Amino acid sequence: AATSYELIMVSSPKPGVGLVTLNRPKALNALSTPLFLELNDALRKLNQDNDTGAIVITGSNKAFAAGADIKEMKDLTFSTAYTTDFIELWSSLSSQVKKPIIAAVNGYALGGGCELAMMADVIYCSSTATFGQPEIKLGTIPGAGGSQRLTHAIGKSRAMELILTGKTFSGKEAGEWGLAARVFQQPEECLEEALKTAEVISGYSRVAVKAAKEVVNKSQDLGVRDGVEYERRVFHSLFGSKDQKIGMTAFAEKKQPQWSNE
Ligand code: HXC
Repeated sequence: AATSYELIMVSSPKPGVGLVTLNRPKALNALSTPLFLELNDALRKLNQDNDTGAIVITGSNKAFAAGADIKEMKDLTFSTAYTTDFIELWSSLSSQVKKPIIAAVNGYALGGGCELAMMADVIYCSSTATFGQPEIKLGTIPGAGGSQRLTHAIGKSRAMELILTGKTFSGKEAGEWGLAARVFQQPEECLEEALKTAEVISGYSRVAVKAAKEVVNKSQDLGVRDGVEYERRVFHSLFGSKDQKIGMTAFAEKKQPQWSNE
């Protein structure tokens, strides 16, 4: 039976695709702890679900997410943040979910919302989306990876300027700078194209898709020499999969591969 959530919605609008829609409209999808607990629960289930090959996360046309919940954080003390490892909860998205995640970003993606988008594997956005790391204006700094992922994505000088000034940037700029893979005129088109891409990914061998995500992510942590070595090891290991035989045999016989996911 489907789990019912209060702050998110989970559906499967296309075969093999899990769609998670952040649904806390009154707070522009501010990412409270209760919301993140639901998000983690949904992602854990989609990650385990054999029928799901790829995941899309989106918000509303007005807001992907306007940040971590400022009202929840306002009175937090250092000792509580430290002992409860505040925000650690957010890391399961990037560490536990092995299936590809596409963020379809419309409207505001600020602070933790921008960080959530950057935890996804691919960002699609509309040209009028508003990204930013405005934490400096609240007397703090990004706390869910923003200073690291934004810098890796768009370079130090741009990231430094944005994080020090709290200035926002548009979806159009996100595309030009390489943060977003594709930029669309309309929010509906952004979500639709994200779902289509997720469906394409879901149509490939689960084994190969998982390995592909793993090796690309390694590039963020390893130098090129170690990264290439790592890639080759994983590439070699795929000769042990059934799907490599199925895929290459199908090509040689001019047929469509029927993946075994083994
Ligand atoms: C809690 C939020 C919120 C947030 C909006 N709301 N963002 N509540 N946390 N991050 C609430 C508002 O208080 C308001 O509630 C309702 O959502 C609608 O917002 P408005 O401000 O009235 O809407 P609008 O005038 O359209 O302005 C939109 C906005 C603005 C520009 C996005 O809401 C805004 O600046 N929000 C904060 C953005 C931000 O600073 N994000 C970074 C957060 S820090 P009421 O009850 O009044 O209707 C952060 C730290 C990350 O993310 C580090 C750890 C992960």
